Amino acid sequence: MNRMKSAGLFCMVLPFVLMSASCAKEQASLKEVFAKEFLIGAAINKKQIYRKIPAEEKIIIKHFNTITPENVLKWSKVHPKPGVYNFDPVDKFVALGEKNNMFMVGHTLVWHSQIPDWAFEDDKGELLDRRAMLKRMKEHIFTVVGRYKGRIDAWDVVNEAVKDDGSLRDSKWHRIIGDDFIEKAFQYAHEADPNAKLYYNDYDMWKKAHRQGVYRLIKKMKADGIPIDGVGFQGHWELDDPKLQELEDSIKAFNRLGLKVMITELDVTVLPSATKHQGADISKNYELTKGLNPYTNGLPAEIQDKLASRYADLFSLLLKYSDTIERITFWGVNDGNSWRNNWPVNGRTDYPLLFDRDNKPKPAFKAVVKTVQK
Ligand code: GLA
Repeated sequence: MNRMKSAGLFCMVLPFVLMSASCAKEQASLKEVFAKEFLIGAAINKKQIYRKIPAEEKIIIKHFNTITPENVLKWSKVHPKPGVYNFDPVDKFVALGEKNNMFMVGHTLVWHSQIPDWAFEDDKGELLDRRAMLKRMKEHIFTVVGRYKGRIDAWDVVNEAVKDDGSLRDSKWHRIIGDDFIEKAFQYAHEADPNAKLYYNDYDMWKKAHRQGVYRLIKKMKADGIPIDGVGFQGHWELDDPKLQELEDSIKAFNRLGLKVMITELDVTVLPSATKHQGADISKNYELTKGLNPYTNGLPAEIQDKLASRYADLFSLLLKYSDTIERITFWGVNDGNSWRNNWPVNGRTDYPLLFDRDNKPKPAFKAVVKTVQK
């Protein structure tokens, strides 16, 4: 081949070489990049479980080695009526996880929200007494955990039992059973699958009083010999809150208790706060106003950058504690399917995750990858 010809050929090939080099760079896989540090996961919705959206499935398989069902294992979905269980979506979830060799988290067994009233009532609509409530709790846990014994690896046994002031929430679980409803739930889950990992999960774990309440609770559980493996920080965060120091203090506190910490529902809203409350009390829903929904036509570069550096800061901190932190799970796969678009205000356009509405990695994705590839 003469020189001219080979140069011409090189020029023809060059764009492809460059393109595939940059694609390869863009397509780093989160689970591979963080393989030595933590499991990386996503909560997946019913459409994704039923494999209806190939582009989203591609992301799930490529980037995540752990999955949590966003809704299908909540009481109202899996056990909608007395004696009626809806297992088909959960069976599909487990099949997807097994096919792709993923660590599966069952979310959630005992929670005050997304549970029908009948769960707490007898045939006449009267509140159950302690004995009957414990029986119902046990039946639910044995049926659900028992069905997936040895297949679902871990359970969020109790979700959100503590308030921001550190006291126990006045839920029906608490009102009917008393303080030990949490311990009972863990005991039943352990009996139903002795090998499953069992977690307590909550929001605002970075707030001092909230953290101290959960800390007291778990310390007592450990002293009482209750099997608990870890604590989940939901991680519904903002651009400025929590402060890194507050988060670090919480991680250290639970580490002192000998517990693994997980970030279980990570997302970072970029929208103006509708309220001072930064947790996830989904009973709140404020009227939509324009000022609260400023980015309907796309995210300005400046905010995109802020989000990227926020994610970089968070991951840098989490990496520092990778011995304690076992898993980081995002609450959703892409911005389009995040619950943040509808909470605490319905119908907003938020950008809280690493993939955009077209399933493209955002600057935040690259910033996160960079934290470990430094
Ligand atoms: C809480 C729950 C999750 C989910 C989110 C909002 O954090 O633990 O199951 O409902 O709220 O989607």
